[in-house]
Amino acid sequence: MAASIPNDFIDELLNRIDIYDVVAPRVSLKKAGKDYAGLCPFHNENTPSFTVSQQKQFFHCFGCGQSGSAISFLMEFEGLDFVDAVKDLAEQAGVEVPLKQVNKQHQHDRNNLYATTEKVTRIYQQQLKNNSPVIDYLKNRGVDGQTCKTFQIGYAEDRWDGISKRFDVAQQNLLDRCGLLSHSNHKSYDKFRNRLMFPIHDRRGRVIAFGGRAVDEDQQPKYLNSPETDLFHKGQELYGYHLARKHSKDDYVIVVEGYMDVVALHQHGIKNAVATLGTATSSQHISLLFKTWPKVVFCFDGDRAGQKAAEKALLTALPLYLDDKIIEFLFLPEDQDPDSYVNQQGSDKFLQHVNKAQPLSQFLLETISRGIDLQTLDGKAQLHERAKDYLKQLPTGAFRQIMQDKVAQISGITMQSRQRMTNRQQSNSTHLNPMRRLLALILNKPDLCEQIPEDLEFNLLPYKGTEIINKVIEIQAGYPQINSAALLEHFRDSNYVSNLNRLMTVYGHMDTSELASEMADLVEHLEQLTTSAKINQLREKQMQGGLTDPEKQQLVALLTKKIK
Ligand code: UTP
Ligand code: MN
Repeated sequence: MAASIPNDFIDELLNRIDIYDVVAPRVSLKKAGKDYAGLCPFHNENTPSFTVSQQKQFFHCFGCGQSGSAISFLMEFEGLDFVDAVKDLAEQAGVEVPLKQVNKQHQHDRNNLYATTEKVTRIYQQQLKNNSPVIDYLKNRGVDGQTCKTFQIGYAEDRWDGISKRFDVAQQNLLDRCGLLSHSNHKSYDKFRNRLMFPIHDRRGRVIAFGGRAVDEDQQPKYLNSPETDLFHKGQELYGYHLARKHSKDDYVIVVEGYMDVVALHQHGIKNAVATLGTATSSQHISLLFKTWPKVVFCFDGDRAGQKAAEKALLTALPLYLDDKIIEFLFLPEDQDPDSYVNQQGSDKFLQHVNKAQPLSQFLLETISRGIDLQTLDGKAQLHERAKDYLKQLPTGAFRQIMQDKVAQISGITMQSRQRMTNRQQSNSTHLNPMRRLLALILNKPDLCEQIPEDLEFNLLPYKGTEIINKVIEIQAGYPQINSAALLEHFRDSNYVSNLNRLMTVYGHMDTSELASEMADLVEHLEQLTTSAKINQLREKQMQGGLTDPEKQQLVALLTKKIK
């Protein structure tokens, strides 16, 4: 949730308004069972797969996967940011968004941070001008003065206070909040020293962080990046995005791995390239790119690491793959990256590779069938199994159907998952582990939290998610009448958000009483699992060092409970 608006205001707001009133004027809805359905406003479709649940105050499209609260709907539909969407809703509900004051101050505060990064950028640029060895280094790598200017490339001097000495005592705090200082033994000093500096810009071209490349051979690490700060969230930003959007007339964007790749391509006239920042491609990255370009070409280095990164990107891309968007994969020759390739071979040759990039469908089939002998029956069965894991990630729609048909054709087995999408949701819950099912249930009906016994020690179980379940329980306890959408809003800015949205849809077909009985079954199951885990723990201790008397009693009690 955005820092400037308190959580409990959002909870209350989403309890007060009705998502139906927000959606209905914008999308034509028809009653469908306990929910409403209509044609999805976020992708092209002829049969309705967009649903609105009043009970959960949540919308979800089975076609493109978009989902969320009334706030998310307004943000997406009207192109508003979070705060403006909340303001709109508050106005409809006749309430005032609290803490405007804080808001203004918050904005003022951010402006100070931007001013700091801008000033530091200028200092780095100045320091580059004064350092001819580094200028030579850039020249040797084929980067000219104009390109340096465009990307605001600079240099951080080889001293502890190259930056900090230019800010007075009162401003050191700003430097720190921009991630520009390191600390040890109660002393602060410049984080970036003797490095070529690449400012990282946000979508509007403001500097929010830096990547610093070593200029000496033995300097480690090769790239040092700014930490996460109030301005900078790695998984959401792409290097070069603002320039690519501004300069490119193409209807596609190329995603490369490194800063230097973006810079070199730009210098060779290929201005529609962006890079992830030393992280894997996230779903947020892909959504962001699809907002500007209908086609994304992932470009990977032609080595083993490149292949692995591509498979990762493939898995991330699948759920977001929409029938009207295109994703392609391009692999460069061994030992080449876009920077070295374009410098050696020129832009035409590079663009030839781009034109020959593999469509996602082809790369998907290749990945699914890699290492499998399709001549044998075993191989065909294996292909069928592996395909299921990938294809279930795809949104329902024409493309998924085509891929399923293709796999069926190759393997000679029809996919059992070729069912109506409602069936698909129903079969979904069975392959989830119990903790995920628990989370899915309490997201769908938050007051089910009250059915979780207090002494249920699910942290003993070998599943992830304890932390987030505890958080959900805590939120629900603080506001017992909270609805699903408001609950999800608490996680808007967390890394879990897309997982949670997906889990929301697992039990989408169940009504209140079905959810409650599913919950009762699950709690019983979890109690059995935790009892077994506890027994094992005690037995292990017994074998190693023996048990105390209370522990012995506990073990007997647990064993009795298990038999019952
Ligand atoms: P590469 O090692 O491929 O470097 O890392 P590069 O971009 O080709 O740079 P040059 O050509 O050697 O100068 C690709 C990206 O991975 C991240 C950076 O974002 C880099 O651009 N990275 C790499 C790090 O964050 N830290 C590192 O130590 C190395
Ligand atoms: Mn490189």
